[in-house]
Order: sequence, then structure tokens, then C-alpha cells
Amino acid sequence: MEPKKVMLSGIKPSGELTLGSYLGAIRNWKDQADQYDCYYFMADLHAITVRQNPADLRRRTIEQLAQYIACGLDPEKNTLFIQSHVHQHAELGWVLNCYAMFGELSRMTQFKDKSAKNADNINGGLFTYPSLMAADILLYQPDFVPVGDDQRQHVELTRDIAVRFNHVYGETFKIPEPFISKVGARIMSLANPEAKMSKSENDDPGRVTLMDSPDVIMRQFKRAVTDCDACVRYDPENKKGIANLMTIYASCTGKTFQEIEKEFDGQGYGAFKTAVGEAVVELLRPIREETAHLLADKSYLESVCKNGAEKAGYIANKTLRKVYKKIGFVAKSN
Ligand code: TYM
Repeated sequence: MEPKKVMLSGIKPSGELTLGSYLGAIRNWKDQADQYDCYYFMADLHAITVRQNPADLRRRTIEQLAQYIACGLDPEKNTLFIQSHVHQHAELGWVLNCYAMFGELSRMTQFKDKSAKNADNINGGLFTYPSLMAADILLYQPDFVPVGDDQRQHVELTRDIAVRFNHVYGETFKIPEPFISKVGARIMSLANPEAKMSKSENDDPGRVTLMDSPDVIMRQFKRAVTDCDACVRYDPENKKGIANLMTIYASCTGKTFQEIEKEFDGQGYGAFKTAVGEAVVELLRPIREETAHLLADKSYLESVCKNGAEKAGYIANKTLRKVYKKIGFVAKSN
């Protein structure tokens, strides 16, 4: 029998998970486990490229694990782990730093954006972040990396680094493909439809988090920035706010843009915003409730991370040993 293809992805626990994290990423991870060997992790090493409060980082990392499970990732079928529990990530990250070029790292849009936002803390980690992300990916030899549109550039750089390495040392890494959904790959802020919905509250007053109460969600949607045209029509160039709300509604209900236009024909934005808000409340309700339930059982969550780290570590170690051998490091005798 052919071995299953591999899928891998991660999220930084740098803020509360949002509707954007769910629609752009996690939603595309669930229901894959029958077909793929799936690895999903909490990217805590990546989170510290921006200063984090230690207690919040710890809380969010565990909360994120509970949310993964609540979103439908069964730990019996998916390998769920915390990035820093698998030390091979940091080790391969260093190696790949030596195969990532200054010029290509400088061109990364996320580096440019984050350096502009954190002008007082443009640290080396922020700059070399994509080599660590390449290591996260290449350690598991995945076929697909399901991410939102903003991470496409990093997955493409991962491919370039892998091709470069393979060219020098012979076939070592599988070249992964980004896996980006057609609808929902870029959910915008409800307060500013020009900017991506962001996990950090300071960056985005127009975010909706997975743990928000129905009241908060409804308030966010009622306040959503739109235009003065009063016509629900999909025009992402000229009606960015409405296009974003239509994308969210389409993602929640499975309806097409045409069907949504018809449904709200002749109605004002008020009715439309309420319908989108209600659809999101119902989408997130079971996730919020199940997360709260799981968070009450810390020992279960600890056992999930322990098993996940063991399984991930085994695979990661195999790849790292292969890399060390190829580049000429002396093997450690046992
Ligand atoms: P992060 O933590 O910023 O985001 C996690 C995932 O959610 C997607 N996403 C969105 N999709 C649609 N609309 C949005 N508003 C939105 N916001 C976030 C992101 O595209 C991403 O898929 N560097 C990565 C984490 C990472 C990773 C990896 C991912 C580290 N190592 C290896 C894949 C493979 C990041 O910062 O994602």
C-alpha cells in the first residue's frame, strides 16, 4: 500500500485565534486525516519574534491546542504538538539559515510589515523567521502545507531553500505545495477592510475571535465598515467591506456570491450584517463551548502534547540526522 501523503501546518500563539485563522487555515485542516498523515502545531518559537508576556504565551499555547481539537482535529488521527517540544525545529532552522539568502529574506512582505509595526524591536528572529518556518515544514517531508494567502510567500521561499539544498547535496527534502482555499484565504478586518484580520487586539479592533460571546460577535458585525452604496454586490475592488462580509457569509453557509446577492436583493446593509453575524455566531458556538470543556481537563491536554511531541520528534529526528550527515557533521556515537 502507498504510504499516506503528508500535510502540515502551524499557527503562532501570539494572540487569540480569529475567524481569519479559522476560515483561512484550521477549517482546511480538519477532515483531512483519513486521507493524509497530518501534523499541526503551535508555533511558539515563532511567537517570540514579537515580545510576548510569558503567562499569556503559556495560556494561549494550551488554549490553541484545545481550540484545534474543538475545531475537529482528533488527536488520535492528527499529530498535534508544541513546536518548542520538538528541538529539531530550532536545529534545522539554524542549518537552513545558512541556505537562505539575505536578499530573499529582506524581500519577505511579512518582515517588512512587522518591522514597520515593531520599529523598536526589529530583531534577528524576525528577519530569519522564514528559515525556521522552512525547517518546520521540511522536517516532516509534507506534500501539502494548508495556509492562508499571507503565508504563500513563506511556503514559496521554503520550496526555494529545499530545491537549493537538494541541488547541493542530492535528494533530501520533498518539495511541498502550498494548499490555499479559494474562498476565505484572506479574511479582512471588520474595522478596516484594507487590512487582514489580525490576532492582536492592538493591531485590529475589527477582529472576531473564536472565544468571543455571541453579543460581542453581533456587535462587531453591526459595526463593520462598509460603503454608502446600500447594495449587496460582490465587487472586491470597489466594495471591499461588503466583499469581505460576503466571503465570510459564503464560508459559513456554503452559498455562492450570486446566491447571496439574490438573497439580499433590495434589502439594506442592516439585514445583511445581522445575517452574517448570526451565521458566524452559529459557526463558532460549538467551537467555543468545546474549547471551554477541554480546557477544564489540563491533564488530557498535556497527554495530547506529550504524545504529539513524541511522534513528531521521531519523524523530525530522522530528517535532521539525514541533513547532518549530508552536510558533513560527525555522527554522535551512542
Ligand atoms: P499565523 O499564526 O499568522 O496564521 C496562522 C494561519 O492562519 C492564516 N490566517 C488567515 N487566513 C485568512 N485570513 C486571515 N485574516 C488570516 N490570518 C491568519 C495564516 O495564513 C496561517 O495559515 N508563519 C505562520 C505560522 C507557521 C507555519 C509554519 C505555517 C510557522 N511555521 C509552518 C505553516 C507551516 C504564521 O505566522 O501564521
